[in-house]
Amino acid sequence: MKTRSTTPDSRLSLLAAALLAIGATAQSADPPTLKDAYKDHFYVGVAINRTIATSTAVLADNVNRNMEQVDRDIALVKQQFNQISPENDLKWQLIHPREGADGYNFGPADAYVDFGVKNNMYIVGHTLVWHGQTPNWVFQGTNLPPGMTNTPPAAAADANGTNAPGGRRGRGPGGGFGRGGFSGPRASREELLQRMHDHIATVVGRYKGKIKVWDVVNEALSDGGTNILRPSPWEQIIGPDFIAKAFEYAHEADPDAILRYNDYSLENSGKRRKLIALIKSLQEQHVPVMAIGSQTHVSVSSPSFEEEDRALTELETLGLPIHITEFDVNSAQGGQRSTSGDVAGNAATTQGGLVSDTDRRLAEAYAGLFRAFVKHDKSVKVITFWGVNDGVSWRAQGRPLLFDAQDKPKPAFDAVIGVVTGQQPAAQ
Ligand code: GLA
Repeated sequence: MKTRSTTPDSRLSLLAAALLAIGATAQSADPPTLKDAYKDHFYVGVAINRTIATSTAVLADNVNRNMEQVDRDIALVKQQFNQISPENDLKWQLIHPREGADGYNFGPADAYVDFGVKNNMYIVGHTLVWHGQTPNWVFQGTNLPPGMTNTPPAAAADANGTNAPGGRRGRGPGGGFGRGGFSGPRASREELLQRMHDHIATVVGRYKGKIKVWDVVNEALSDGGTNILRPSPWEQIIGPDFIAKAFEYAHEADPDAILRYNDYSLENSGKRRKLIALIKSLQEQHVPVMAIGSQTHVSVSSPSFEEEDRALTELETLGLPIHITEFDVNSAQGGQRSTSGDVAGNAATTQGGLVSDTDRRLAEAYAGLFRAFVKHDKSVKVITFWGVNDGVSWRAQGRPLLFDAQDKPKPAFDAVIGVVTGQQPAAQ
């Protein structure tokens, strides 16, 4: 039998071939997942809707996912992320639609928490006290608001938004107080404080030990003007200390939960100054606020690495962990300057088709922002994308996420992975 020659050359070429093979497999191996690539920096998470939490297809509202798509969405969530946030089902309107102790609807929320526990996720609760998606009964009472002399006809429907089950946040025209929002006889300070206390004690108590982080108060700051707080029903009926009370009640209900104040447009220096003033005053009162939530609904135009670096540096002066809570990057021509989390204006901010060179600009924007997050990873502890892919995003027209509607990674995904692996995304 003819034996293969084992000359030094042949041994070398065999070795070279073997090394090449190893190299090739390394090259073609799947890129690391987001959660693995960033495990030494921060959690990388995603907001999930009811289709993913309950593994059911939804053909309602504006979330059209059939079962095959839902299964793929779920697989992607499990593969890429180690933290979850609820897009809607823990908001007051969905979890406590009717008044009183038996007015709760825990089904969808339980499914969300069970999904998180089953898949070993770091579970966030969103949100306890907000002027959006809060049913009117919460604010209603017998006290005529200032300037009102007699009882107007009952405010017809919930002005704060649709009640579609699992539906995405919708807000009636103008939302909030005064502009088509809640109007009419209102609760007293004591009544509303009691409702807030009972709601927080019940909801936070139910998921004690499972939900690790809570958005206790969402979007209390005003946009523009000199007032720190927006004139929400909470602020108008209880007063500015509604925020301190909410944190107090949440801490009472679960002393181990991380309590977060959450808001949008903190990339904007004016809004950021208001946040710093608010949090400093809460800290002086020893209110248990334990983390800053920066929604970060941004665009390919801004913020740049430098702008985000400056924003994070200023927020760090509060000495609290910073969480990026509702991250998405709009690449539609409309809204390139908008960082608002306001759905009312959202449609306008994703009009006009996509910016040119979309994929490259989105990849560069995401890479710049992740470089800033990594630079500040001593304080930036959680990054949560607001939706798993462009198909389910509330800003779908702006294609704002790392995965397309078919759950395929976009060049922006490679760019984000490349920030920590040094691997450059394949040329466009
Ligand atoms: C805000 C809310 C979120 C979500 C988004 C967009 O930022 O905090 O819960 O509703 O708007 O929909």
